[in-house]
Amino acid sequence: MNVGVLGTGITKFGERWDQGLRELLLDAQLKALKDSKLSPVDIDALYTGNMGGGPLSGQLHIGAMATENLNIDKPSVRVEGACASGSLALRAGIHAIEAGEAEIVMVSGVEKMTDVSTEQVTTMLMGAGDEEIDGFTGLTFPGLYALLAKAYMHKFPKLTRDLLAEVSVKNHFHGAKNSYAQFRKEITIDTVKNSTMVADPLTLFDCSPITDGAATIIIASEKKAKELGAKVSIIGSGLGTDSLSLARRKSLTRIDAAHTAAHQAYKQAGIKAEDVNFAEVHDCFTIAEIMAVEALGFAKEGEGYKLYQNKETYFDGKKPINTSGGLKSCGHPVGATGVKQAIEATLQLSDKAEGRQVKNAEIGVTHNVGGSGGTACVHVFRRMK
Ligand code: COA
Repeated sequence: MNVGVLGTGITKFGERWDQGLRELLLDAQLKALKDSKLSPVDIDALYTGNMGGGPLSGQLHIGAMATENLNIDKPSVRVEGACASGSLALRAGIHAIEAGEAEIVMVSGVEKMTDVSTEQVTTMLMGAGDEEIDGFTGLTFPGLYALLAKAYMHKFPKLTRDLLAEVSVKNHFHGAKNSYAQFRKEITIDTVKNSTMVADPLTLFDCSPITDGAATIIIASEKKAKELGAKVSIIGSGLGTDSLSLARRKSLTRIDAAHTAAHQAYKQAGIKAEDVNFAEVHDCFTIAEIMAVEALGFAKEGEGYKLYQNKETYFDGKKPINTSGGLKSCGHPVGATGVKQAIEATLQLSDKAEGRQVKNAEIGVTHNVGGSGGTACVHVFRRMK
């Protein structure tokens, strides 16, 4: 598999009271067209990730919104897979190119989450879990991941509270260097430990926030991408699925779907975990990043903590993780997150990541999870040869 990235566009993430769902999407789309030096008529197909448009804004049918924004009449589809919607849209775009149906595809993700109460957002997000089993008991997403954290830290006590907090400290450090991040403030381990308890053991600073934002990436067939001077290729795409409910999982200490997705993506790309220079992973809660580095094969199961002992995951460390600031500090507009991850990988591999640039990187991966692991998508990016 080989498609190229022609350009990217992203809005500032955060509480964007100044822009609605449509304007956020349009902003990202126009920035990506400008970056790619293309006009709307050059786009053959559009895929847009969105999760909460219906329940939060009363707006479905985002596929038609994406083409209406650009005043074009092209195949356009909204893709939903909870917080993995953006990566699923990217995967759908890649498949359209591989099937020969399109040469140039616009992939976007958009979410408008801050116009309603936290309670409404929490209820919407819980739709990514199993309503009849987990939702019925009153569980929320912080609650689901708190259960995973408890199970993990019971089985693997070497993941201490301080090391878990270090995930957030590192992501805020990176976010402070990213102009489109929601929170641009460095924090300490004490900030995390002393912040309000949300769902034991997870405090406010263990949680990703509620975010508005949009992101667009334009991809093309290998031939077209080379012709147009692309610098980055996507060489692997994997997708794993599992039960919606935690109650039906084989294990509470690993996200099986992410292991499956990583295995498929690496196989397709012809790489091993050791070949990966950096990763953007789904740190919706700090514990999720620990499980992510294990799913990607950077550490054995139960040993993810080791990467956080010696600051290996900083942008200038041995295995940089979440140089964008991750979901924690950059923000998590759920449908847009997978596309934002793809953009960060592209920026890194084209030496445009400014103050957080990873040196001499050739291969980066993105890891995006829907729900508590019902869906997981991994993509492999490579500097174009
Ligand atoms: N990290 C750090 N600070 C946060 C934060 C977060 N995750 N969320 C909110 N804040 C800050 C706000 O900026 C605000 O600061 P200020 O008083 O200086 O302006 C303050 O905390 C209160 O913000 P508010 O919006 O009232 O918080 P809240 O209590 O409504 O929401 C959470 C906090 C943790 C409940 C909410 O962010 C949440 O539900 N996060 C998880 C989202 C999620 O589950 N996503 C899907 C994952 S798969």
